[in-house]
Amino acid sequence: MKNQELIETDFLTIRKHTEAICAPLEVEDYVPQPIADVSPPKWHLAHTTWFFEQFVLIPFSPGYRIFDEDFAYLFNSYYNHAGDRVLRPNRGLMSRPPVREVMRYREYVTGKLSEMMRLQKLSDEVLDRIVLGINHEQQHQELLVYDLKYILGNQPTFPVYGTEFHTKPKGKGDFLKFEEGIYEIGFAGDGFCYDNELGRHRVFLEAFELSDSLVTNGEYLEFIGAGGYQNFDYWLDEGLHFIRKEGITAPLYWHQKDGEWWNYTLGGFERIDLELPVQHLSFYEAMAYAAWKGCRLPTEFEWEVAAAQLDWRQLWEWTNSAYLPYPGFKKVAGALGEYNGKFMVGLHVLRGGSVATPAGHSRITYRNFFHPSARWIFSGLRLAR
Ligand SMILES: [Fe+2]
Repeated sequence: MKNQELIETDFLTIRKHTEAICAPLEVEDYVPQPIADVSPPKWHLAHTTWFFEQFVLIPFSPGYRIFDEDFAYLFNSYYNHAGDRVLRPNRGLMSRPPVREVMRYREYVTGKLSEMMRLQKLSDEVLDRIVLGINHEQQHQELLVYDLKYILGNQPTFPVYGTEFHTKPKGKGDFLKFEEGIYEIGFAGDGFCYDNELGRHRVFLEAFELSDSLVTNGEYLEFIGAGGYQNFDYWLDEGLHFIRKEGITAPLYWHQKDGEWWNYTLGGFERIDLELPVQHLSFYEAMAYAAWKGCRLPTEFEWEVAAAQLDWRQLWEWTNSAYLPYPGFKKVAGALGEYNGKFMVGLHVLRGGSVATPAGHSRITYRNFFHPSARWIFSGLRLAR
């Protein structure tokens, strides 16, 4: 049996944590959507609440009164089973409901769900939904950090958020060796995992080597200095088109000032720290750097096999693995089947976790996935050969 009391404690902690991430923001910071990928903080606060209302309270709490009938339309993200919704690029156009109303919505749903957990003995089905909602909110906590960094990092004044999500220098850059063999990949155990980690299966890997550390800003600067962004030889064709079209010549948030490289960090506008891992790279840039070094990116399987020997909670690590279903992948019926499976085309897997990943939300089998052009995520790279 699942421990309902522990789940309730987790639920309350996670709800507070989302609000704590927003605490350094001014009310005006909650609304903008500077690019389609970046959702307004207000939207994250409301959407994670809607998830619990839509998938737990409405179906399983008899007599539950919906907070506001319009909110499903405003705060559904991509669940076709859950009806019509505001188009993604229009999330930042909503000046209403005001932030204070969204905070009231949060308080109302948190209160109703914790009351339900206190007063009723819930079935495993309901508890599983709540645990999914908790993990969903944790995923959004990380997205919230990416998004508020993009919002603040595109202000002409580069405002300071704080030092909570800073990376640290680590590792020596030695290559670790791994034997050829048949390895088991995918989730095994009793705890929570997403459906895309299931279908534990065997893969054969040739012998490989993986660096014990992430590529640093200093190392990446050498690539820039060597004309890496200009030499077509290092780039995938799609990547070359992307950087040329977007005018990209350095990682996101890097700026040249008086002949020196600076970057926006959540701590403000700072000189590049050469020792820190290079951050905010697209898959294309990671691939080009690896090609320049005569190396490659690991596959997600190599990463998973090596994970126990790596220091891996700094930045999500691009792998050269397409985001595809594992053997026997099954999606559940209804809206929650839309959570992961429908994105299994055209995206790449990142493994590990980042300084913005909430505590307790990492696993070596966790498969993160983004479009190869994504740069606002907390991504880095580790070389393989
Ligand atoms: Fe979501």
